Amino acid sequence: MLHVAIEAAKEAGRYLKLSVGKVRSVETKKGEERNLVSEIDRTSEEKIIRMIRQHYPSHAILAEESGASTTSSDYKWVIDPLDGTTNFLHGLPVFSVTIAIEYKGELIAGVVYDPNLDEIFTAERGAGAYCNGRRLKVSHASELISSLLVTGFPYDIAQNPDNAVGHFVNFLMEGQGIRRLGSAALDLSYVAAGRFDGFWEVNLHPWDMAAGVLLIHEAGGRVTDFSGAPSSIYRKQVLASNGIIHEAMLRVLARGAGS
Ligand code: IPD
Ligand code: CA
Ligand code: CA
Repeated sequence: MLHVAIEAAKEAGRYLKLSVGKVRSVETKKGEERNLVSEIDRTSEEKIIRMIRQHYPSHAILAEESGASTTSSDYKWVIDPLDGTTNFLHGLPVFSVTIAIEYKGELIAGVVYDPNLDEIFTAERGAGAYCNGRRLKVSHASELISSLLVTGFPYDIAQNPDNAVGHFVNFLMEGQGIRRLGSAALDLSYVAAGRFDGFWEVNLHPWDMAAGVLLIHEAGGRVTDFSGAPSSIYRKQVLASNGIIHEAMLRVLARGAGS
């Protein structure tokens, strides 16, 4: 299954890279003016689903653009065919394809593919996390002041009182630096790779997080909600770190987004 996920992510990723600057139609989603989707997102998803269906026609699928399949199966493929749509539409080469597999509700495999750097992040439950075949390990940073952090914001930032802008300000004052890449799947992969030390975001969807969460667990990191409770890809808060700075990040989040 991991092999099929890798092949599907690579095929879709190559298609995305070739499609930069060739978008014909862009629409908004859920009535949110910042939440965009193009025909490229949809075609990428069709390519991935076609390949999965060829090999595993009875498996369930949850994909960002087409939703949940009606199939009932112990296996569920969770797919974001283009993570970083805003970057993609601007020609900014920071986007990815991400595919994860759940078995009886537990993540067993995940893939994040960055076609611009040709990096494929892969993880299998109990078998470690890898980037282009090289084993990944989270960083050793032990203080926020020596930690490079990353985050993102919900598309409904202007309407949503839970937009996490306050957390951003608090972490700016505590951390070494903060980045906002625009692809949550890459943010999480980079925590697994030790490039970032911590990540938080609100209002993500299961397809944004699924592969990345497994990558971080398999690379020795920790993932929770903002209260420190074990994470679920179906919850709205995610805090991911190298584990060492996790409690310090929880203390900053506990101050609330308003201060
Ligand atoms: C988005 C990206 C972004 C995050 C947003 C996501 P999309 O996914 O992961 O980094 O901040 O919350 O929705 O829409 O490009 O697939
Ligand atoms: Ca996404
Ligand atoms: Ca997407």
